[in-house]
Amino acid sequence: METPILEFVAAYAAREQTRLHMPGHKGRRVLGPEALDITEIGGADHLYPAEGIIRRSEENAARLFGSGRTLYSAEGSSLCIRAMLLLVSRLAARKGRRPRVIAARNVHKSFLSAAALLDIDVVWIMPEEEGLIRCPVRRETLARRIGESEADAVWLTSPDYLGCLADVGELAALCRDHGLPLLVDNAHGAYLRFLPEDRHPLTLGADLCCDSAHKTLPVLTGGAYLHVGRNAPPLFAEEAEEALASFASTSPSYLILQSLDAANAMLAGSLPGQLAETAARVGEMKERLRAKGIPLVGQEPLKLTLAPKRIGYTGVEVGELLAEQGMICEFADPDFVVMMLAPAIGVEAMARLERSLTALPVGQPIEERPPRIGAAERVMTMREALFAPSCTAAPEEAEGKVLVSAEVSCPPAVPIALPGERLTRAHLDAFAYYGISSCRIARE
Ligand SMILES: Cc1ncc(COP(=O)(O)O)c(C=O)c1O
Repeated sequence: METPILEFVAAYAAREQTRLHMPGHKGRRVLGPEALDITEIGGADHLYPAEGIIRRSEENAARLFGSGRTLYSAEGSSLCIRAMLLLVSRLAARKGRRPRVIAARNVHKSFLSAAALLDIDVVWIMPEEEGLIRCPVRRETLARRIGESEADAVWLTSPDYLGCLADVGELAALCRDHGLPLLVDNAHGAYLRFLPEDRHPLTLGADLCCDSAHKTLPVLTGGAYLHVGRNAPPLFAEEAEEALASFASTSPSYLILQSLDAANAMLAGSLPGQLAETAARVGEMKERLRAKGIPLVGQEPLKLTLAPKRIGYTGVEVGELLAEQGMICEFADPDFVVMMLAPAIGVEAMARLERSLTALPVGQPIEERPPRIGAAERVMTMREALFAPSCTAAPEEAEGKVLVSAEVSCPPAVPIALPGERLTRAHLDAFAYYGISSCRIARE
């Protein structure tokens, strides 16, 4: 597959020229890649709107993902999430309404800041179990919420940070029956498209979805896709680029754009085979770990998540034990430790990981459970909270006060309490459990 951005920049860097344009390093080496780090000069296209080499590269990505339109983000899925919510807000505006979105509660924090700015009324689906990172959505629950709420769209996060997958196909069909667009935060699932069983949300019927290419494909940090489904409301494809531009920097990183371009060639070549092989290997490893009594969570093929309290460890402890052996996990909290696997890790390192995990001596189960957080009292809208006079408070002073910022432990950046909600004892227990030591509350 052609790689027009890579080719343009390589040819530009190879010529002896004085760079009278940004960036200020002028192509001279500081870290290494500066010669390839250009800006939107003549011939290099613009990211928004893309009409030249970037557009050609995006069209290649669209063919690979089977989308109606794919747009690049050099600022992660966070940017795409803001754009997706702006598009839904515009859809609602056409109907003369304040936007309303039904969302599973385990949204990423970028959802909240965008929802506050856009004054979106969010109808939350709360987790039926303890903890907030997972929020499985049952068809009946969503059907009930749709029936009750006159919403403009439905929002799911799938895969979630722990590697749990929603039944996107079933939920997309339900949304379609009600004429509601389904938007999916697929930040963790770009690679799902390229496995023998394609479980990418777009394939399963999502209308809009974002993928952090950088999380699971060999792409530089920040590289992401905004995909528009083939059957999505026409406004989404027509205005997606402008929606991204509304929130994006006007100086996109060409290193990231080259990296996305290079990924196209890899995805059209040997990468899907390598992903399939690695997923099969991880699947076999998971079976052996389960057979040894190691408790695993989630169905995502390239994520390995342990819930190790049952064998006597917190997630943090397992993360630390692996770090002592030179293996650094993606995320660990009291309940879980998350490892993200990929072809680039190699067979040897995976075997070493498996040996380390199976060598863990089994201890007494740890009974402490994560706090359960029910629906909270909403005192003001998220937008009102964004503008409310506020101060910083220690959690012990904050019970009964109104939170104005999304308090998260990052990762996984899933908010424990939402802006505009009154903080309860359960929230404060959760702050302590997840190591959050201060929060912003509305001044009284
Ligand atoms: C579920 C989820 N959505 C969105 C994001 C934001 O993605 P990015 O870092 O690419 O902006 C993250 C980041 O970890 C995430 O876990």
